[in-house]
Order: sequence, then structure tokens, then C-alpha cells
Amino acid sequence: MTYLETAAEFYREVAETPQVGLCCVQSSPLQFPGLKIPVSMQEMNYGCGTTVHPTELNHQPTVLYVGVGGGLEALQFAYFSRRASAVIAVEPVAAMREAATRNLEIAATENSWFNPNFVEIRTGDAFNLPVADASVDIVAQNCLFNIFEPEDLTRALKEAYRVLKPGGRLQMSDPIATSPIPVHLQQDERLRAMCLSGALTYQEYTQRIIDAGFGQIEIRARRPYRLLDAPTYNLEENLLLESLDSVAFKVAIPEDGACIFTGKTAIYCGGESLFDDGAGHLLQRGIPADVCDKTAAKLAALEPEKIITTDSTWHYNGGGCC
Ligand SMILES: C[S@@+](CC[C@H](N)C(=O)[O-])C[C@H]1O[C@@H](n2cnc3c(N)ncnc32)[C@H](O)[C@@H]1O
Repeated sequence: MTYLETAAEFYREVAETPQVGLCCVQSSPLQFPGLKIPVSMQEMNYGCGTTVHPTELNHQPTVLYVGVGGGLEALQFAYFSRRASAVIAVEPVAAMREAATRNLEIAATENSWFNPNFVEIRTGDAFNLPVADASVDIVAQNCLFNIFEPEDLTRALKEAYRVLKPGGRLQMSDPIATSPIPVHLQQDERLRAMCLSGALTYQEYTQRIIDAGFGQIEIRARRPYRLLDAPTYNLEENLLLESLDSVAFKVAIPEDGACIFTGKTAIYCGGESLFDDGAGHLLQRGIPADVCDKTAAKLAALEPEKIITTDSTWHYNGGGCC
């Protein structure tokens, strides 16, 4: 069996016998006015964060959701798009497709606005998405890509890039590792399937996204996810996993490198009312301006006495100046 087959087998098991709390953190799923999430769907919340960003879903986007699980986020996306096949959910595991279909039918009995045809479940996998090039506004995946070995992760990211329209968004939530995961854990296929041993470091993860062609990444949330404790996992010291919510944009990579927004700001404190770096960044005296990490570093080096840069908040919601 390959590790991907082990993962498929694992998800067949947890589709047939839900494992409450498998991947999710302790927060309850996002609730919206008039949205009722069936209990059977909540029990199959196998995501480690959220990929649904409500303030950006007002144009009824077409969403390609990879790895449907119990259908929770597909339902949340459908809440905003509300039209037939607005959400295309791709899932290789038959038992998971069946569980999601059942859960969405229950959702229709509990939500008068919802029609199960809003979510079209298709057989397929992350490496062969069954849609045309440049045909969707959003690709979303929650707690799946971390399972993939690095070269497969790159394949999946490139496949997401292929199907996105220009300017489209890849919305992801995945565990990342605060230090590299030792090989003996990486090779444990069951732990990998459980989203516990395939995670890359933040640097490796974001670099793979950029290498697939995405010119801008926004970090929406970063929080503790799981602790791999030394005795249980045969480690020299405890290893903390975090979960990272990100949005990557299918835009050209600028000549001086991709923009990654992590919540940093730049504040001008010199003698003029305005600072212009001549590269498109205007800073008003005393007023924080959202900047990407690359620009923060450049501005700090340019005028170390007159420009303060603040730390990453790991919570950035758009509107930066790059
Ligand atoms: C950790 S679960 C996450 C489910 C869902 N995203 C959620 O948040 O509840 C991973 C999902 O990806 C599916 N999956 C496994 N291998 C896959 C692959 N190669 N391509 C696409 N989906 C896959 C699993 O069957 C499962 O539904």
C-alpha cells in the first residue's frame, strides 16, 4: 500500500465510524445567521481551522473544495453562493462521498435556504481535479495537503493553480511544524493520515505555495494545534504543531519576490507628514500601514531611525499596500 492508499483507507474508516475531535481544535464550527449545521456533520469536522472567510464571499463564487470530509465547509461555502453546483467537492473515498451526501441531505431538512444541488460531489483527487483550467474562483482544502509528501504537495498546489481563474484564491488550513518532524514520524503512514506527522515548517510550506506560482499569500490565523510529546512520539523534546489558515492569490510573482502578509505594519515617525519610498508605499506620519513582510524589511532597512515595523500578528484580512 502507498501512503496515499493508507490515507484513503483511514478516511474510509472515519467516514463509516466518525471520530469526534480527530483534527479539529476546540473551537466550534463557524455559525452564520440561519445556518444550522447537522450534528452528524459536526461529528465529522475533520478540519484544523477554517477556509471560509465570510467577508469575501459576497459574489456567489464558484468554489472547488478538495477532500469533502463530512461536508461541513462545503455547506458553509454553499451558504454564501446559494446556486446549483456553486460548490464542487472532490473526494476520492467512496464512503466519504456517501457520508457527505447523507449529511447534506440532512442539512437540507434543517435549512430552508439550502438545496443539496448547491454542492456537487465529484469523484477525483487533489492531483487530478475534474474541472477545466481557470474555471473556479476559489479552491479550498482543510487539513488535507499536510498529509502529502513534499513533492505530492507541490503537485496538488500546481493543480489548484491550474483550475483557478486569474486572481483566484487558494484558501487552506493545515498543520505546520515549529521544527522539522523527524523522519521516523514522517514515515509513519497512519500518523501522516491523521494529520500528525506530515506537516512542514512555516518556511517550507509557504515556499512551496510560492513555487507553485502564487504571487501573494495572506496569513489569516496561526494557532497551537497539537503537541507531539517526547515520550509518546519517541522524540528528544516535545514538538508543537500549529494550524495555519492562509489565502494564496493566483497573481504574478513580483520581480523582487512574492508578498506574504502576516499582519506587520510600518509606521513613519520622521519629521515630515508623509513618507514616500518611491516604490509605491506612502506612509502617513504616526499611522500604521499594512505591509507585507518583504516591504517591512525593506522599509526598516531604508530608514531605521524613522520607520518602525511592528511584529506579525498572524491575522491579516486584506487591504495592504503592496
Ligand atoms: C482531514 S480530512 C478533512 C475533511 C474536511 N476538509 C474537513 O474539514 O472536515 C481529509 C479529507 O480528504 C480526503 N482525501 C484523502 N486523500 C485525498 C486525495 N488524494 N485527494 C483529495 N482528497 C483526499 C479524505 O477522504 C477526507 O475527506
